[in-house]
Amino acid sequence: MEVSKLLSRDPHRPKYHFLPPANWINDPNGPIYYKEEYHLFYQHNPEGDIWGNIHWGHAKSKDLVFWQHLPIALKPSHKKGEEHCFSGTCVLNDNIPTIIYTSIGHQRDQLTGAEQWLAFSTDDMVSWIKHEKNPTMTLKIHGNLQIWDWRDPHAWKEGNQWYMVLSGHVREKKRLKKPVVLLYSSSDLIHWKFIKILCLGDGSRETGKNWECPNFFSLGGKEKRVLIVSVSPKKKVIYTIGTWKNQDFKHGKWHLLDHGKWMYAPATMKEPSGRILMWGWIFGGGEIKGWNGCLTLPRELRESSDNRLLIRPVKELEKLRERHVHLENITIDSNSLTIIERIEDKCVELIIQFKNPRKESFQLKLSELITSNREVFLTMDLASNKIQCGEDECSIDPHDIKKEENMLHVFIDNSVIEVFFNHVYCLTTRYFFKIRRKSKLMIAVKNGAMKFKKIDAWSIKSIWNE
Ligand code: FRU
Repeated sequence: MEVSKLLSRDPHRPKYHFLPPANWINDPNGPIYYKEEYHLFYQHNPEGDIWGNIHWGHAKSKDLVFWQHLPIALKPSHKKGEEHCFSGTCVLNDNIPTIIYTSIGHQRDQLTGAEQWLAFSTDDMVSWIKHEKNPTMTLKIHGNLQIWDWRDPHAWKEGNQWYMVLSGHVREKKRLKKPVVLLYSSSDLIHWKFIKILCLGDGSRETGKNWECPNFFSLGGKEKRVLIVSVSPKKKVIYTIGTWKNQDFKHGKWHLLDHGKWMYAPATMKEPSGRILMWGWIFGGGEIKGWNGCLTLPRELRESSDNRLLIRPVKELEKLRERHVHLENITIDSNSLTIIERIEDKCVELIIQFKNPRKESFQLKLSELITSNREVFLTMDLASNKIQCGEDECSIDPHDIKKEENMLHVFIDNSVIEVFFNHVYCLTTRYFFKIRRKSKLMIAVKNGAMKFKKIDAWSIKSIWNE
């Protein structure tokens, strides 16, 4: 049997989240809009479902929803001592698609010997040529400053000047690790100058010991910049909005980008229209071996009025909606269970709009049609201001729960669940449903009664022809 057919039988494998035809995926890399198509690359082991032998997988899409897999973009150049092609960025250099990535080899291990390499394409991103001037950057560029875990370039252009950030950590008094984002400039992407440490973490629990996959971009305003970093080995993603002036960045407060424990190493891109898009890596496989990991749905980032990010799934995803159930102005009390929809597979989108009742909570459950087996997979607890989904929890600042209208937006894709609350909180999680057969999706209220303005549910179709 064809591998993709076999894998599609895994009840836990997502159907509308991006993943490779088979095998391992981790970070999304270098998303870019080119000739009216979105291109997305990703860390990929084409030969197995565990991390290793890292290549750059490649896919493209006209609408951010349906994707076409393309030949592998980068593979390690073993003859040049390269073992892995780590994460990086893709830019247009005088319209030539150019990938800048971190090269790892036996002699240049990831902790102390990473190099930055460049590859370009002259056939519209079908094939990629590694530049003869590689490496374009080595650790020597920092002079006496020693950097560990130096990797994951993210580049952009301002006027005629290219800028790039890379991340890793410095060590004070040998032991104390502090995470860093470093800033560089170049006029041609080949010759680089180290400018300075753009942002230094304090080594605390909040900002961690080492940073990976930095993203640095504006949301429109000239001097405002967002910095996103992935914190290792803790595996969480944080961001700050600060000011950028004369090559200097003053960061603001740090926030969690996602409150679950399953999303990491996001990559962002700016569309020609100015819209900022982001994908993250979601860990883990399912029951059938041969696949491991997928990407989040594309999310749009905007700025809120209080210096945070507004995060929402892109509008294009509405294309995937099929059967629709709509309930309006209904009151549900603790004695009743309301059926939202009968479902066969677990590919559903839900939008629940409600007033803030004070101390009630509501739950989303699946209930088997034949037996009365039930399982609760999500609890919106308004007494303690928490969303619980699977094993993950998101604490909400009570100020973010509005009096009149709140919106809980949930995407279920077999074992992947993405939750958005009022566009400010995101929680990505994995949940392995025990109920296998036909079931009902239900909503139930605990302690009292609650008024729902609207409940909408759609079954969602697969993005692949399987
Ligand atoms: C983040 C990361 C990056 C690195 C890549 C290797 O998940 O560790 O820092 O470039 O994965 O696959």
